[in-house]
Amino acid sequence: MVKVAVLGAAGGIGQPLSLLVKLNEDVTALNMYDIVRCPGVAADISHINTNSTVTAFQGNDSLKDCLTGMDIVVIPAGVPRKPGMTRDDLFGVNAGIVRDLIQGVADNCPKALVCIISNPVNSTVPIAAEVLKKNGVYDPKRLFGVSTLDIVRASRFVRDVRPSFNAHTPIPVIGGHSGNTIVPILSSVQSEVKLSEDEIKTVTHRIQFGGDEVVQAKNGEGSATLSMAYAGYRFVASLISAIKGKPTTECTFIDLSVDAQGAQFYRQLGATDLEFFSVSANIGPNGVESIQPISGISPFEKELIQAAVSPIAQNIASGVNFIRK
Ligand code: NAD
Ligand code: LMR
Repeated sequence: MVKVAVLGAAGGIGQPLSLLVKLNEDVTALNMYDIVRCPGVAADISHINTNSTVTAFQGNDSLKDCLTGMDIVVIPAGVPRKPGMTRDDLFGVNAGIVRDLIQGVADNCPKALVCIISNPVNSTVPIAAEVLKKNGVYDPKRLFGVSTLDIVRASRFVRDVRPSFNAHTPIPVIGGHSGNTIVPILSSVQSEVKLSEDEIKTVTHRIQFGGDEVVQAKNGEGSATLSMAYAGYRFVASLISAIKGKPTTECTFIDLSVDAQGAQFYRQLGATDLEFFSVSANIGPNGVESIQPISGISPFEKELIQAAVSPIAQNIASGVNFIRK
């Protein structure tokens, strides 16, 4: 049975994400960690009559007890955007938060599968990798940047222009998780939805900048929380299934060194020297087992990939330098 810790559990994402994890009957322990509000939120969720025992942990002194023995650690801790900000503007605060929480992972549960939600994902995942490397416990197969919300948006936004499209059909989204680093592969459903060139451009742009729609609508009160909790849980549920022996395939921002041969496909498309990229990954009980190609990528999507490479490289470098400096 599976033990899950949510770090940042009392936040806008953390609360509904913890609620969804609580509903999963394969989870036996749900450890909720935050620096504020955690006892109340955890007490509330703990009354739900499912299998897992919920425990609250508040403040750095309790991080060790929270993480010891965990199979999966999900991290939505950190500040969200306000209108006018990019995800990179969050680096100054969130880089240090992720660094310190991952130090806790390195010390207490280095074998856990670690899911990073905190933005900017293109930098926080390399930060996590560097901290784990520094501690001699880095297993690239076990570290994931959660970009599932882009996949969720892709299916929903196609449905908005083609009402007959099944909104559960997954559409691969590769690259990174910010603006033009997000590369939806709409050609994977093109034989069914037959979008015009203009529609492809419009839907692609909407997926790339879907986060901004929510930030603007919330008008200073943060960014996507409920759709992100759904997306984050979808990813965590896939990992739980994988741990229980049912391998899964997800697009996720990972270290390409896990499968040099599989990564070749993405490198040939333009991700030549990148250490991290969101790819279609086959995931088993110990993390990523292999990277798989995506068929039928269009010339337009190849251009998008090429435009994504340089910003992702800069984001990775910022993360790496933050720890190595
Ligand atoms: P929020 O402010 O509502 O919640 C964040 C929580 O983190 C708060 O409860 C806060 O107390 C906690 N926190 C802060 N420092 C902490 C620390 N050192 N240890 C533990 N907890 C700490 O923000 P939110 O809306 O939940 O967003 C959280 C993060 O997720 C943001 O960085 C946001 O940009 C990101 N996000 C990512 C995606 C994605 O697709 N990957 C989607 C939406 C939001
Ligand atoms: C999103 O895509 O909704 C998140 O990355 C939050 C944001 O800042 O837009």
